[in-house]
Amino acid sequence: MNISKSLKNLFRKPKRQENPYISPIYGGRWDTHPIEKKKIPEDPLLPEVAYRIVADEMNLEGNPALNMATFVTTWMEPEADELIKMGATKNLVDEDEYPQLKVIEERIIHMEAELFNVPDDCEPTGVVTIGSSEAIMLALLAHKWSWRKKRQAAGLDSSRPNIIFGADVHTCWEKFSRYFDVEMRVIPLQQDKYTINAEDIAPLLDENTIAVGVVVGTTFTGQVDDIQEINRYLIKHKQATGNNIPIHVDAASGGFVLPFYRPDFLWDFRLEQVRTINVSNHKFGLVYAGMGSVIFKDKSDLPPELPFEINYLGGSIHNYSLNFSKGSSNLLAQYYMFIRLGKSGYRKIINAVMDNAQYLEKQLSDSGYFEILTDANFLPTVVVKLINDQTFTAYHISDQLRKNGWIVPAYSLPLHADHIVVLRMVIKENFSRDLAEKLLNDILAAIDYLQKNPPQRQVIDEMQKESSKIKPHGVC
Ligand SMILES: Cc1ncc(COP(=O)(O)O)c(C=O)c1O
Repeated sequence: MNISKSLKNLFRKPKRQENPYISPIYGGRWDTHPIEKKKIPEDPLLPEVAYRIVADEMNLEGNPALNMATFVTTWMEPEADELIKMGATKNLVDEDEYPQLKVIEERIIHMEAELFNVPDDCEPTGVVTIGSSEAIMLALLAHKWSWRKKRQAAGLDSSRPNIIFGADVHTCWEKFSRYFDVEMRVIPLQQDKYTINAEDIAPLLDENTIAVGVVVGTTFTGQVDDIQEINRYLIKHKQATGNNIPIHVDAASGGFVLPFYRPDFLWDFRLEQVRTINVSNHKFGLVYAGMGSVIFKDKSDLPPELPFEINYLGGSIHNYSLNFSKGSSNLLAQYYMFIRLGKSGYRKIINAVMDNAQYLEKQLSDSGYFEILTDANFLPTVVVKLINDQTFTAYHISDQLRKNGWIVPAYSLPLHADHIVVLRMVIKENFSRDLAEKLLNDILAAIDYLQKNPPQRQVIDEMQKESSKIKPHGVC
């Protein structure tokens, strides 16, 4: 959800009646006629006309190159685009017809397991998913099943599973808890503390805890939970109580950054309690939206009852997913990217992106208008808040930037830090130093405009009141 958009809706006038027809003016070229918007037309159109109508619908959309809101990749090479077309025709689950897709999927899973430093004595496994949300749900379901099996085998109650994570998680963690009936024990954030540590989880652990969730690159501030301390604490807890609680790492954003930018930082399978990791390939894996992965450190971490054996596509296939059919475009694109860039290619890109993030951060701090909320040390995310006593808010800056095509979201932080409104800019591969300069100039111009044309106090108060009611979980 775009918060500044929903706030804008608040002040919007009532909608006028929508015209139910699209009436393209291509009459001089093709014999066109109005078509109904919400009914499938009775008659066909020429392909050129249908294409033009759909393409024209996109003209009013934001420009992906100026979309600083999303972590999701917005540019790929033409060779990748060709593979994407090829993959669109092949259903990934149909492994009997397209066995090589399964081979490529397995290669990708093993490449990622190696990147995440899986120990030699483990046999990693995993699947590619539609994104990190599905990957997280599959990992947590496996932890729930493993926990339940252990409890049942010991003749203990298995009706009240719980999971521990911070309020810094993405909304998909709450989704898991709600959809799969697991009590969530959420650690609230605090002023100046937007991540969780061992002290936070200690009082919440018990014999019904299926896993502890740790984020490597949070959606809100780009920081990393104190994973090393949490791992140490869980090892001590295991030794003292015999209760072996796994960590699931949500590396949606950090999974392809840290191995290249901070390879010595311990966050992955090198840590004993880390049993599962998800990553968004469509973020810094550098492929378009629609792909994540979940990696199990060892086959034993995925209960064998969970993958389904299915035989109606003409052979026997094993499927562990929440949905079923999907194209193979992203799988092929990701494989292309791994072999095209190699580790050194990723290293170069990620380092350049981090450099640009730190440059933008410094310039914003030097402008005197912003406080840097979190240093861009782990993720190329610049998160700033306005220094107090301005006559306008971060939402107004966000709205002003829209006029120049920039999509820079403003939102309030989660629970207990929700009085803090930030602007977040995710730096991606296609954001050059030139664009950074342009964005900086446009931010300063927006501030100049707002200083000369201060919004009414009542509007600011309304915006702040509304923003505190909106959960900022839609940012990705
Ligand atoms: C840390 C984190 N986890 C999970 C998700 C959900 O990922 P996806 O959009 O791929 O389902 C996101 C954002 O998109 C995220 O930032």
